[in-house]
Amino acid sequence: MERAYLGETGVCVSRVILGCGNFGGVGSAPAFFGGGESPEEAAAIMDAAWEAGITTFDTADAYGGGRSETSIGDWLRTKGPEVRDAIVLSTKTFNPMGEGEDHGLAPARVKRQLESSLRRLGVERVQMYLTHDWDLDVPIAETLGVLDELQHAGKIEAYGASNVDAAQLRQALAVDLPTGYGWVQNSYSLLDRGAEDELLPLCAERGLGFTPFSPLAGGWLTGKYRRNEPPPAGSRMTLRPEPYEHLQDAAVFDLLEDLERRAVERGTTMAALAIAWLLANPAVTAVVVGPRRPAHLEPALAALAID
Ligand SMILES: NC(=O)c1ccc[n+]([C@@H]2O[C@H](COP(=O)([O-])OP(=O)(O)OC[C@H]3O[C@@H](n4cnc5c(N)ncnc54)[C@H](OP(=O)(O)O)[C@@H]3O)[C@@H](O)[C@H]2O)c1
Repeated sequence: MERAYLGETGVCVSRVILGCGNFGGVGSAPAFFGGGESPEEAAAIMDAAWEAGITTFDTADAYGGGRSETSIGDWLRTKGPEVRDAIVLSTKTFNPMGEGEDHGLAPARVKRQLESSLRRLGVERVQMYLTHDWDLDVPIAETLGVLDELQHAGKIEAYGASNVDAAQLRQALAVDLPTGYGWVQNSYSLLDRGAEDELLPLCAERGLGFTPFSPLAGGWLTGKYRRNEPPPAGSRMTLRPEPYEHLQDAAVFDLLEDLERRAVERGTTMAALAIAWLLANPAVTAVVVGPRRPAHLEPALAALAID
């Protein structure tokens, strides 16, 4: 497995990062807490990822209402030091842990949530900690101040920003701190290219890493959704279609059919080609994939071999 340094943080990540957003739910949506992959299914995916050389796992406090972190912690406890010491953990905070619970990036909440993440993960520190969203109610300097404090306390090695736009990132980078945000995790794929306008150039210019999530646009780039056909049973479009409704569009199906033709020409799959396209971008440090079963890792591994 190829590895890369995450911007200037000193953290080394596998170029394919295992996204654990499907463990015990579908991301941070409370309606699905307790759904998604069971702890046993999650363990099978983590075993397959480890065997493929994937050493970086991405989760969040709110994924599955804490179940994603708990699944990872339980899995790590069954492993020896050769696994536990090699896994680079990335977690996040912002979203509520359940209906009606608090959210945001107030310093006291960030500290509390990190402690709860460390408990669920069964570790004393995480290498990567992300603010999961931008908090309009808390000055960014206050949030960065507490992240800096947690870094100095040795509880996090580096911290990054997720779901920020270029103006927000510029504002955060203007705060006078010894380190500051070291990378960005935003959505980026062939079907979501907004990051190209300003964010990717800004990350490259300021030496920040970039780890896109949703590299397959929630499954759309696998080709499982066909023009004028209903979505396959159990697929994300049947469970949580809202973030992807805009993709039900003739131009999107044109693009997907073009991708399919190019994949066939190269003797590969649409999913592998879509991930290879991301990995080929020098501004992309590593890609966060979201497999629901071990076999779903195949396109990401195939992508690493595509020139
Ligand atoms: N920071 C954030 O706000 C944020 C947001 C979203 C995700 N993430 C992170 O990024 C990770 C990946 O995001 P994502 O789940 O949206 O990624 P994605 O790869 O774009 O979509 C994952 C979905 O694609 C389908 N899929 C994946 N591999 C497949 C394969 N080989 N063959 C067929 N279908 C396949 C599955 O859909 P079905 O469910 O239909 O089978 C799966 O649920 C998450 O686990 C999480 O760690 C972060």
